[in-house]
Amino acid sequence: MAREAAEGKVVLVTGASSGIGRACADLLARSGFTVHGTSRSAPVDPPAGWTWQEMDVRDGAAVGDGVARIVAAAGRLDAVVNNAGFGIAGAVEDTTVGEALDLFQTNFLGALRVCRAVLPHFRARGTGTIVNVSSLGGRIGLPFQGLYSASKYALEGMTEALRMEVKPFGVKVVLVEPGDTRTGFTAHRQRTALSETNGAYRERFIRALQRIEEDETGGGSPEVVARLILRVLRHPSPRLRYTVGNPVQRLAAVARGVLPGRLFEWGIMRYYGVH
Ligand SMILES: NC(=O)c1ccc[n+]([C@@H]2O[C@H](COP(=O)([O-])OP(=O)(O)OC[C@H]3O[C@@H](n4cnc5c(N)ncnc54)[C@H](OP(=O)(O)O)[C@@H]3O)[C@@H](O)[C@H]2O)c1
Repeated sequence: MAREAAEGKVVLVTGASSGIGRACADLLARSGFTVHGTSRSAPVDPPAGWTWQEMDVRDGAAVGDGVARIVAAAGRLDAVVNNAGFGIAGAVEDTTVGEALDLFQTNFLGALRVCRAVLPHFRARGTGTIVNVSSLGGRIGLPFQGLYSASKYALEGMTEALRMEVKPFGVKVVLVEPGDTRTGFTAHRQRTALSETNGAYRERFIRALQRIEEDETGGGSPEVVARLILRVLRHPSPRLRYTVGNPVQRLAAVARGVLPGRLFEWGIMRYYGVH
């Protein structure tokens, strides 16, 4: 990849207290970026070479103030990594609208709030990069993670459109789609309340969740995703989409486009033990 210099560039990383966001903030800081990392709780290990501030992406005023503080402190903002997010497990039938809304408030609307806060600044300067951290679950509807997949599909759709809208202003918009990655994501995943009591899905739900958790805890290191994000931020004209992680999982995203639908579905159902 061709490279742009990082020196002096200011980047906001949301969800920087843990996992991919933490790895990203650390690596970008080591690579010459001025990094402002945000989350609801402070990182357990103090940030090395970057600045942390509290910012809940569910709170529009907090996002607006947070972005304004960074621009005031650093004098500019060059890029944002919309990474804050969490997972929820449960059958679609066992997910209440309230639980779904709660998830979308962070995974989808959180990214929208941050995009809306940074875009006037990016447009005014005629430059800026937005990296939205999606998931391979944003390319494939994963059984018993249906609402998580839906939140990432929503992010994907918005990102595709946004990229075309802001291209004439010199703003770049990119999707990074990690496969299973070893982070706090597994421990932080919520289960829908009804999944604990509804017997109809119980056995298949437990089997699928076990598979999902094994894949995540045995998954790639968050530094691998961080390295990809660094490459994207240094690229003068990045693509719309980058997948990262286990080659089999990355292949699944491709297979989805080429295999007959029934065969693909059969494979996914066998894989997660939900047939
Ligand atoms: N791990 C995987 O296998 C995997 C695979 C594909 C995609 N992803 C995506 O990667 C991103 C990062 O996840 P991770 O794996 O690094 O998980 P993680 O270790 O649990 O980190 C999630 C981060 O998001 C922050 N966060 C959650 N809710 C927030 C809110 N309302 N406002 C601000 N920050 C919030 C958390 O901090 P606080 O709780 O302190 O706010 C934390 O810093 C997510 O978007 C996830 O969907 C993960």
